[in-house]
Amino acid sequence: MIHRQEKIREHYDMVADTYDHHYDHYRGRNYHTHISNFLIRALPEQGDLLDIGCGTGLFVEKYIRHGGTAAGLDISRKMVEQARRRCPGCEFTVGNGENLPFCDSSFDSVSSLLVFSYVKRPETMLGEVYRVLRPGGAVAICTLGKKLLTRGIPALYQISEKMKVNHVVMKDFGEYYYNEEEMNALFSSAGFTDIAIRWCSFAHIDMIDPLFHLASRIEPFVEKRVPQLAYNIFVSARKPE
Ligand SMILES: C[S@@+](CC[C@H](N)C(=O)[O-])C[C@H]1O[C@@H](n2cnc3c(N)ncnc32)[C@H](O)[C@@H]1O
Repeated sequence: MIHRQEKIREHYDMVADTYDHHYDHYRGRNYHTHISNFLIRALPEQGDLLDIGCGTGLFVEKYIRHGGTAAGLDISRKMVEQARRRCPGCEFTVGNGENLPFCDSSFDSVSSLLVFSYVKRPETMLGEVYRVLRPGGAVAICTLGKKLLTRGIPALYQISEKMKVNHVVMKDFGEYYYNEEEMNALFSSAGFTDIAIRWCSFAHIDMIDPLFHLASRIEPFVEKRVPQLAYNIFVSARKPE
């Protein structure tokens, strides 16, 4: 049986050339910008950022527009090649978020967007994030969260894999979705403080256009007042000084 991480790596190597098409249209662009902005608001504008699971560099590109410098790391060599093309001035490394090939205290901030649910040992990754952050450094992640609405997703991905549906994320990778309590426990055990957890995203990229437009309009209201309907979990925290 193929190892789960190997399956993830192989899959993203395979879709690397077409991954960006998923985010090129109106819905994709809006969705990615919406969740990226949660991270950007929680991270310092200046300084050195490490983006774990950087993919094709979509978040790195957004972050450096604000004046900071950024490096990216991804388990898929082909995704890293795309990221290097997108942001030629940034450093990109092939590697696993659970074993960061960087010195202690080398970054001011760490981000990770749509990756955490794939990580096999989240406590190991957060220990690594803590190690490479400078004292006072910030971490922000956003990933699918554990909710009534997301409960059926793993089964959907299993079915879509069996039916050979051609979709960039719809595969059975044995993903795990976390709730607030689990995230809080993981981040505090790793030593982080100032842990803030919020729910975000209501407009889903796979909705048809008119529905997506409507969902986008009511998204801020849902995130604030009806967070049980939002499906991504956003966590920000700090390494103590
Ligand atoms: C859904 S994509 C998100 C990519 C990018 N963050 C974005 O916002 O477009 C998930 C990415 O996580 C990477 N990935 C999955 N598990 C990883 C791990 N343990 N370490 C590093 N990268 C990982 C995959 O190769 C893939 O590029």
